[in-house]
Amino acid sequence: METASQLPSAPGPIGVFDSGYGGLTILREMRETMPQCDFLYLGDNARAPYGTRSFDVVYEFTLQAVRFLFRQGCHLVILACNTASAKALRTIQQTDLPLIDSHRRVLGVIRPTVEIVGSLSQTRHVGIMATQGTVRSRTYELELAKLSPDIQVTSEACPMWVPLVENEEYDSPGADYFVRERIDSLLSRDPLIDTVILGCTHYPLLIGKIRQYMPHCVRIVEQGKYVAESLKEYLMRHTEMNERITTQGSVRFLTTEQAEVFQTKATIFMGEPLQAERVQL
Ligand code: DGL
Repeated sequence: METASQLPSAPGPIGVFDSGYGGLTILREMRETMPQCDFLYLGDNARAPYGTRSFDVVYEFTLQAVRFLFRQGCHLVILACNTASAKALRTIQQTDLPLIDSHRRVLGVIRPTVEIVGSLSQTRHVGIMATQGTVRSRTYELELAKLSPDIQVTSEACPMWVPLVENEEYDSPGADYFVRERIDSLLSRDPLIDTVILGCTHYPLLIGKIRQYMPHCVRIVEQGKYVAESLKEYLMRHTEMNERITTQGSVRFLTTEQAEVFQTKATIFMGEPLQAERVQL
C-alpha cells in the first residue's frame, strides 16, 4: 500500500470517477464551470454497474479507483457516482485518507445535491430516483433530515436504468417500459411530489424518456451543475488545494474496458472528439 511519500507530489488534474459513463454528466458541467482546470476521468466500465453490488464490493472497487487516481497525480478526486458516494465515501474519508495521505481529498455528489433541494420544493414532498445501492443506504434521507427536516422523501430504486444506459438502449421500447414503470411507481407512492432528484449520474443520459413520462408539474433535478458549482466554491475556500490543481484546460479519459468503445460513446456524449486509454486498477 503506497503512502504519501510514494505518491507524486507535483500538482495534477482533478480525478473524476464513476462505475462507467454516468460520471461524464458531472464532468461535462465541471468543464463548463471550471474550463481552466485539468481533469482525469476514470470509468470502471468493466465492472459496471455498481448499483446492485454489496457495500463491501463497492467500497473495495472505489478505493482501488481512488488509489489509482492518486498514483496518476491527482490530489483531489470527485466520486461522480451516487452509489460510490453513498457506500464508500465516508469510510474512505475517515479511515483510508489519513493512512494514505491526509492532504489529499475525496468528495462525493450527494451532499451538494441535498444542499439545494430545500430551495426547490414547494410541496415539501421530494422523490429520489437512484440505484438499489443508493436507495438501500438511505443516504439521501439521512442527509435531507439534517438539512431540510420538513421535507418528506420517497425513494425509488430503478435497477434497470443503468444497464439501459451502459448498453446504449436510451431510445428502445425497453427504455419506454422501464422508465415509465418507475416514474408511475414513485408518483403513486406519493402524489404530492413536486421535485424529483435524479440521484444517479447515469440517469441524465435517459433524460428524453424521463421528461416524456414525468408529469410537467414535477421538476426534474439533474445534479451535474450543482456539483460543479459546489466544487468551484470549495476550491475558492481551499486555496491550498486549488494550488495543487494543474490548469491547462485538458481532459484525459481512462476506462477499464475497451478504449475504442468508450471513446465512441464518450465522444458523442461530450460533443468533442476524444481519446481513451484502457487501464488496469
Ligand atoms: N452512476 C452511478 C451512480 O450515480 C452508478 C451506477 C451503477 O453503476 O449502478 O449511482
